[in-house]
Amino acid sequence: MQTEPRDRPIGIFDSGIGGLTVAKAIKALLPQEQLIYFGDTAHLPYGDKSTAAIQAYAVKICDLLLRQQCKIILIACNSASAAAYELVREYVGSKAHVLNVIDPVVQFVGQAYAHRTIGLIGTKQTVNSNVYKKKIDNLDQGIVLHSLATPLLAPMVEEGFFNNTISESVIQTYLSDPSLQDIEALILGCTHYPLIKEQIERFYQGRVAVLDSSELVARHVGEELQRLNLAATTLQGEAHFYVSDYTASFEASTRIFFQRAVRLEHYPLWE
Ligand code: DGL
Repeated sequence: MQTEPRDRPIGIFDSGIGGLTVAKAIKALLPQEQLIYFGDTAHLPYGDKSTAAIQAYAVKICDLLLRQQCKIILIACNSASAAAYELVREYVGSKAHVLNVIDPVVQFVGQAYAHRTIGLIGTKQTVNSNVYKKKIDNLDQGIVLHSLATPLLAPMVEEGFFNNTISESVIQTYLSDPSLQDIEALILGCTHYPLIKEQIERFYQGRVAVLDSSELVARHVGEELQRLNLAATTLQGEAHFYVSDYTASFEASTRIFFQRAVRLEHYPLWE
């Protein structure tokens, strides 16, 4: 029997488990939606990979999510959103709606920070792609963006180093960089960073607004579901969490990102 489009799951993917911060925000806002999460742990981190490599991984992951009949595919990774969003949209075509984690933030910044100077931190892939700058410039709102690649932050968080003196010192070193001076807001351009949001806020002591994309993205997903008439009315089944490489330590770390225990299912991308 064919499942009604609205009763199909939302597919979410990331390079690893960082995108669980986005999945958690979606679950909190839209509890009736069934989630299928894929973390490409075999290829982590995406932030240092080439655009071509990330595009190849993203297409493979979409095949899996389409087989699961996902109505929406959310790229819950800034690096993959920067490298592969356009390609994935073309690849998926009319089979599902593809969303990324960058557009909702750009839209918010356009409304809230016209003619102001803001900052961005993210992986090398995200920052060097200039995708945030291009999209913000396209708004034509006179927003000046200062960006800094902060490649140590994602692995640091993944190792459980946050809210301690090591993370304090890494964060302080990055945020003191001359390129990030005189900003009024800072975009957290990586789905790992919500976990260090409080520490970043402490560093700025209220002088700079810290923009966490997970809630903005969850709200955007909700609006898209309404607009497309695809919002589920009842929960159809439990969430599934797939990873391309399984280790017990990944499973242990998921608790940090999703704030509850998650059973990971191993699903190799290439057999
Ligand atoms: N979660 C990824 C992002 O949002 C960063 C981690 C990685 O480099 O794979 O960019």
